[in-house]
Amino acid sequence: MAYPPHMTTQRIGETDLTSSRLSYGCMRIAGTWNPAEVDDEKRAAAHLALETAFEHSYTLFDHADIYARGASESLHGELLGAEPSKRDKIVIATKCGIKPPGQYGENSPHTYDFSASHILWSCDRSLERLQTDYIDIYQLHRPDYLMNPEEVAEAFTRLKEQGKVRHFGVSNFLPDKVSLLQKYVPLCVNQVEISLSHRDPLEDGTLNQCMQESITPLSWSPLAGGALGEGAEGELIALTDQIAEAHGVTRTDIALAWLLKHPSGIIPIIGTTKPERIIQSTKAAKIELSREDWYRLFTAAVGEPMP
Ligand SMILES: NC(=O)c1ccc[n+]([C@@H]2O[C@H](COP(=O)([O-])OP(=O)(O)OC[C@H]3O[C@@H](n4cnc5c(N)ncnc54)[C@H](OP(=O)(O)O)[C@@H]3O)[C@@H](O)[C@H]2O)c1
Repeated sequence: MAYPPHMTTQRIGETDLTSSRLSYGCMRIAGTWNPAEVDDEKRAAAHLALETAFEHSYTLFDHADIYARGASESLHGELLGAEPSKRDKIVIATKCGIKPPGQYGENSPHTYDFSASHILWSCDRSLERLQTDYIDIYQLHRPDYLMNPEEVAEAFTRLKEQGKVRHFGVSNFLPDKVSLLQKYVPLCVNQVEISLSHRDPLEDGTLNQCMQESITPLSWSPLAGGALGEGAEGELIALTDQIAEAHGVTRTDIALAWLLKHPSGIIPIIGTTKPERIIQSTKAAKIELSREDWYRLFTAAVGEPMP
């Protein structure tokens, strides 16, 4: 496939970041946010989802320390620990920086923490849970208002020197914050919410900055958390179905193809836990959506004609 011209980082570590043009999101694999609820059935379902994604050419797996309070990383780690030879065939992204309420002591508040000590500590915990020696892409989850870029860079440099992290990225960062941090440390991804239902990055400079700075945009909730899936209705959905029928694919494949059409090289993070939907989604990467259909979908999503 042709890579968008700005994409100089086609490989992350030993692995091609964009071979499948999609990534697999691990936020929902535990089937719960409460690690105590992960029973054998949920464990088997998580393993099946991860194996299915691996077998169907997803190379980039997106985690965060807070997903199921660490259980998502641990579930993946169980597979990697059992078959270490699979480790260098995938790109593992994970995140730190969010401290959920009550997790760091009784009554501890919900905070964001980009202090060097928290970043270094969190990275070690993620490595343990994932049963790996290195993380390919370590992302800061949501901007910490108290971020000191020099301190972040210090922590990142240390992690890189120690071989614990290969590349760094951010998530939910607006362009000004990316620019600030980029002065101190190179960033390879910005993971943002973008879909037909959430189009801010088209307008707020995020995607333009990605092209300018050779940063790969990752799209979280590419199906708006399922709101563009089965059961949905309305003008946008009807149009998506019509275009899907013409291409012989599903509605959600078209919603993903709409993202893939953008020249910034958006990589949608597939969030379904159902094997058949993980497999079906790979069809999106082969769809050539016309400019006309892209704009028809955009107009239907906005709900107003183009100016
Ligand atoms: N950086 C951040 O702040 C952030 C925030 C949120 C998410 N993320 C990342 O982005 C990934 C994807 O996010 P997401 O899970 O919200 O993605 P999504 O694809 O927008 O939503 C997934 C949800 O949609 C449902 N779904 C999928 N296909 C469907 C269909 N055809 N009909 C009806 N429902 C359907 C899934 O249910 P089934 O499982 O039943 O198919 C699942 O509940 C996450 O795993 C995580 O890695 C990052």
